[in-house]
Amino acid sequence: MTNHALRDSTERDAPCAGLRIGDQAPDFSARSTTGDIRLSDFRGRWLVLFSHPADFTPVCTTEFVALARAEEEFERRDCALMALSVDSLFSHFAWLRMIRDRFGVEVRFPIIEDPTLVIAQAYGMVAPQDNDSATVRTIFFIDPQGAIRAMSCYPANVGRSTPEMIRTLDALQAVDDGRGLAPANWQPGESLLRQPSASLDDVFAAEGQADWFLQQSGEGAGR
Ligand code: BEZ
Repeated sequence: MTNHALRDSTERDAPCAGLRIGDQAPDFSARSTTGDIRLSDFRGRWLVLFSHPADFTPVCTTEFVALARAEEEFERRDCALMALSVDSLFSHFAWLRMIRDRFGVEVRFPIIEDPTLVIAQAYGMVAPQDNDSATVRTIFFIDPQGAIRAMSCYPANVGRSTPEMIRTLDALQAVDDGRGLAPANWQPGESLLRQPSASLDDVFAAEGQADWFLQQSGEGAGR
């Protein structure tokens, strides 16, 4: 990367800028393919809110086909899906009809229209100084209390992994009681790690155990 490119990339606000894990997800009301919706009406369930750059584009189409096919998996985890782009409601409708006719899948989760970018900007889905109004591929995992628990961001030219979205949701739910930690590549049914002790006495008492901080909890999420 040249200095110039580095400067350009660091001077841009990163997508998701301003929001952090643990923040309350900003509330909004909007028109969607399933009617008028308000984010706070989804309290009490998990919610995956995600943006896509544009309707009628190749990668986005593959993502929506994959997510519509996996929607039951999210439902089984008491998690709703909610998509958003700057395209109009009627563009969303036309695209969903095309997806149904071409792929035989009905996208039944809501897709929000955000033509003024008011939601996209609140969530950092577009950089304020971008001259392209398309949102990037962000994902916000929102818990039943309305707090953001994880987020990710992909460029327009790389599609997201539905299994990884489900795995992240499984991991967030499995560690929700605060007792366990999900290790790298964790899958439901596998052991979690134990929260390490924060007491120096415990550390010194763990004689001969150099990896005292790296213990399985024996608990897994049995899915
Ligand atoms: C796509 O989904 O294929 C796409 C969207 C925006 C820009 C480039 C590709």
